[in-house]
Amino acid sequence: MTEVVNTRNALFEAKRSGKTGVVMTMGALHAGHAALLRTARAQADFVIATIFVNPLQFGPNEDLARYPRTFDADVAMCEAEGVDLVFAPPVEEMYPGGQPVVTVDPGPLGGQLEGEHRPGHFAGVLTVVLKLLNLTRADAAYFGEKDYQQLTLIRRMVRDLEVPVEIVGVPTVREPDGLALSSRNRYLSDAERDLSLSLSRALRRGGAQRTVDAVLATAAAELAGIDVDYLELRDPELGAPPAQGSARLLVAARIGTTRLIDNTPLELS
Ligand code: PAF
Repeated sequence: MTEVVNTRNALFEAKRSGKTGVVMTMGALHAGHAALLRTARAQADFVIATIFVNPLQFGPNEDLARYPRTFDADVAMCEAEGVDLVFAPPVEEMYPGGQPVVTVDPGPLGGQLEGEHRPGHFAGVLTVVLKLLNLTRADAAYFGEKDYQQLTLIRRMVRDLEVPVEIVGVPTVREPDGLALSSRNRYLSDAERDLSLSLSRALRRGGAQRTVDAVLATAAAELAGIDVDYLELRDPELGAPPAQGSARLLVAARIGTTRLIDNTPLELS
């Protein structure tokens, strides 16, 4: 039976034992979240899912107001995946004093890639993630590789600030045709959905190449005619790309009014 609580006091009072795992979400749960919940269920004794659409990580022109809210279906998924506790606080519970004055500075990487197109986004993400880690007192937290820069920055925050939690990355879940699952996919019309397949195709074909130039040229060719925000090859920690060895190819593009991101690991030789 999944218990649903909305306040920090109820969260603190919930009985638990053993290792606590947390999956943080903004709701609108899909099979990608189910994979996170399943991993947490397999590795932890007590699983908490948080559902909170964090206003701090949305820019003034972003989709906060229209962000999909599917609370009952979300709780049903948590129930089906064996979640012990759902923490779904209202905004006033998370930010009782209004906008926080002290926030987490994501450092230089916070201004690159997604951060260059979404100013303030990663300060908002890291601030709420640190608050939720402190509130849930989780031993382990599970994040999708789909938001690879987010995962990288959370790992970095935990390392740099000595946060006592294990961060576990979970591979991206895709539709059979390659489209990475995202709560924002539901905004796509049929024609836009077809067009959006060029992102995963670019990553697949680019990712099969073995030199920096070939990777970028092959991927860019697949994205012709698409409104690309960035296509970049980086090292696995999102520093400059190595000439050889493991790397990450990342893309963001606008399909109509919907902004999609995706990424893939690859090996350069
Ligand atoms: O990935 C998300 O859904 C959000 O950025 C997170 C980690 C729940 C923080 O609001």
